[in-house]
Formats: sequence, C-alpha cells, structure tokens
Amino acid sequence: MSAHGVPEPMTAPAAGPLTGVAEVPGDKSISHRSLILGALSVGETRVTGLLEGQDVLDTAKAMAAFGAEVERRGEGEWRVHGVGVGGFAEPEDVIDCGNSGTGVRLIMGAMATTPIAATFTGDASLRSRPMGRITDPLGGFGTAAYGRQGGRLPLTIVGTGAAVPVDYTLPVPSAQVKSAVLLAGLNAPGETVVREAEATRDHTERMLRGFGAEVETAVEDGVRVIRLQGQPELRPQSIAVPRDPSSAAFPVCAALVVEGSDVLVPGIGLNPTRAGLYTTLREMGADLTYENEREEGGEPVADLRARFSPSMRGIEVPPERAASMIDEFPILSVVASFAEGVTVMRGVKELRVKESDRIDAMAVGLRANGVSVEETEDTMSVHGLGPKGVPGGGRAEARLDHRIAMSFLCLGMGSAKGVSVDDAGPIATSFPVFVPLMEELGAVLRKDNR
Ligand code: S3P
Repeated sequence: MSAHGVPEPMTAPAAGPLTGVAEVPGDKSISHRSLILGALSVGETRVTGLLEGQDVLDTAKAMAAFGAEVERRGEGEWRVHGVGVGGFAEPEDVIDCGNSGTGVRLIMGAMATTPIAATFTGDASLRSRPMGRITDPLGGFGTAAYGRQGGRLPLTIVGTGAAVPVDYTLPVPSAQVKSAVLLAGLNAPGETVVREAEATRDHTERMLRGFGAEVETAVEDGVRVIRLQGQPELRPQSIAVPRDPSSAAFPVCAALVVEGSDVLVPGIGLNPTRAGLYTTLREMGADLTYENEREEGGEPVADLRARFSPSMRGIEVPPERAASMIDEFPILSVVASFAEGVTVMRGVKELRVKESDRIDAMAVGLRANGVSVEETEDTMSVHGLGPKGVPGGGRAEARLDHRIAMSFLCLGMGSAKGVSVDDAGPIATSFPVFVPLMEELGAVLRKDNR
C-alpha cells in the first residue's frame, strides 16, 4: 500500500538476463540503531549511507518527538543532536512507527527507564504483532505498559525514573527484544544482563561499544551472555552505514534464477549474525562469490557476485542457522523453487510473527504459481522444479509485507509466465529504489491498473 493507503499492483514478467552493478541502500537494522543511539548520546552524531526507507524515516521522526534534533543534510546524510541517556522528553503526541517492528520495539526500550509516558501505534500489520515480548522484560525494570489484548498496539509505556537492572533470558531468538532490554538497561544503575541461546544480530552491542558503553559478550555453557554497565555517557559518533545484506538478497537471488544473469552487488555487510542466506546459497551450489573482502565501520563487508546457477540442489537448512537469515527465508523459498529437489527450512516459527505470517504468505503464493510447498508450525519445505521450471502465471498477496512483495516479483522474473503481486507499495519501507534498481539490471516491472 502506498503512503495514501491505495494498493499498487505490479507484475514481473519473465526477465531476460540481469546484468550490471546493483548498489543497494543502507542496512535497515544499523540505520535504526544509529538514529536511536545518536539521540541517546550527548552532542552531534553524523550518519552517512542511512537507509531512507519509510521504516527508518518513522524512527527519525520519533527521535525528534523525544527531543533530539534530527536533520537531513543530503542523500543518506543525517545529523542527530542527542539529549543523552535519560534525557528523552515526553512526546506531545502518539508515536506512529508505521510498519516497523524494529523501530517501535527499540524505541520502547530506549524510553522505558526515563520517567515519561508515550503511546505507540502503527499500521494494520504492526498493530497485529506481539509486543508482550518487549513489555514483559521492560516490566522487570519497573516500567508499566498498557496495551490492547495480547499486548498489541496501540500501547502506552509509562517509563520508570527508578529503574532496577534485569538479568533476562530471551524466550525467543530476537534481536529486537535483546536490543530493547539493552537500551532500557542504559538508564538503569548497575549491570543489565541478556542471555540468548541462539546468536541473533549483534549490531546493538557493536554500536553501543562504539558509542563508549561498556558491553561484554561471553559464551557460558553454550549461551551467549551480554553484560552492559548502566548509565554511561554515550559519545557521539560518525557512522557509515554498510549496505543491507537483506536487501542485497533480492538482486542476488534474482540473478541466480534468471538465465544468463551476472550481477555485482558491492559493499554488502556480512556480519556473521546476518550472513546465513549466503552460506545456504553456496551450499545449494549457487554461483556466488565474495570479492574484495574488507572491514568497514567495524563490520565485515564484501562485494557479492551472483551468476545464473542452473545446477542448484535443495538442502536442509539447519535450525541453528535460522536467526542469521530470519528475514531471508521468503527469498530463499523462491530460489528453492528453481533448485532440483526439496529444500527444508527448520526452526522458522518466528516467521509467523513478522510483518505477515511469512510461512503462510509464501506457501499460498508459491502454490498459486505452480510450486508445491509443505508447512508445519516450525518448518517450510519447497519442492524445487529445477532451472526454468517454475510456471508462474499466478497472483500473490503481499499482506503489507515488503519482503513478500519483492520475493514474488523475483519469482516472476525467473518464471515462464511471470507473477503479479496485489500491492508493491510496502517495498518502500525497506528498499525504496528496488523497482528502478531491478529495471536497471534488465528486469521489467509493470504497474498494473487497479
Ligand atoms: C531486526 C531483528 C529481526 C528482523 C528484523 C530486524 C533488528 O527481528 O526480523 O527485520 O534490526 O533487530 P526479530 O528480533 O523479531 O527476530
């Protein structure tokens, strides 16, 4: 849906070879965090390469509502004048985080240990997502939360001015929950501890260290234990946001399934807590290479080169890898459709509470395009039809979910008859230049009449 709530149907017909260089935008996770930590430090943080998708723009607006000065200087170039840990002011109005689970959950954590109240809401997708996973641990600090049934938005957080630090074991593998607890811990005296059985993305820990907080990570009996010392003075930083591996996944995977393709996607962040898709694709036999491997801004980075890969095989993706590719299962299920044999994805039940129920959304849309899929609560299995084997010709629902919309458009590019989505509008939340970027590589993306 566009910003005006009008659906934007789109069709991707079968594409000719995709070739050229795809410069994808900045990392969404790192973009949110750079604005939030900038707002919690004292002085001016400079950010370049910020993702200017709607999700991140909503976080920028929220930081201004909590009293930070947030200024756009140029394309992807932003300045944040922070108010310091504990310095947030009470917003005058409801905070609308749009479609963004990361935005709302991290911001709730960041304000939870300041004695102010704030009410949060979002679009229909965000209002249906569980927030108890955030308000439960925040309650441990002494924060109160009043939401709809099941802890759904709209929800009011009443922050505490007398926080006690928590020692919290994540009940679900979620970087959003981990980050909310760590951000709340910033304004609690003493040590806040988060324990996670599966390693989730660690951008918050890395960036907190960069801003001068004391954060230690250790592995104790197979569990990752993160310890944060509360009430630091965060020092403003200059942050160069690396390009987003989750966005890169779309041109990379489209190149793997469209005959004759050869695409270079430069400067992609390959933090091991994010790179599970690329490991999986290489195991499937994808012609995918890392070129010019280097480090930028504390994160490992490489140029990805993807070529049409007609001999990919289905594999079992182990459950312990799920967290490192949690946003990439929809596009993996597309690649799996063009492999020989079955691809089994295990340990993926968190997909059911993303912007949509991504297992159901992909299963229904893939079946409508001739691919057979089996699902349980926690697994998804895709029966591959081999290179050029996907008939297409069907329509798929995006369900207010950017990654579902982009995945089905990529399916269409590799299929015989193309694929339509009912609404490409949500793509703007994370990858506003997806359509021109794919067209530049040679794809055809047709806006349909409503
Ligand atoms: C994110 C964490 C993940 C991911 C989301 C971004 C983050 O969510 O799906 O797109 O930036 O921390 P969960 O923490 O719910 O797994």
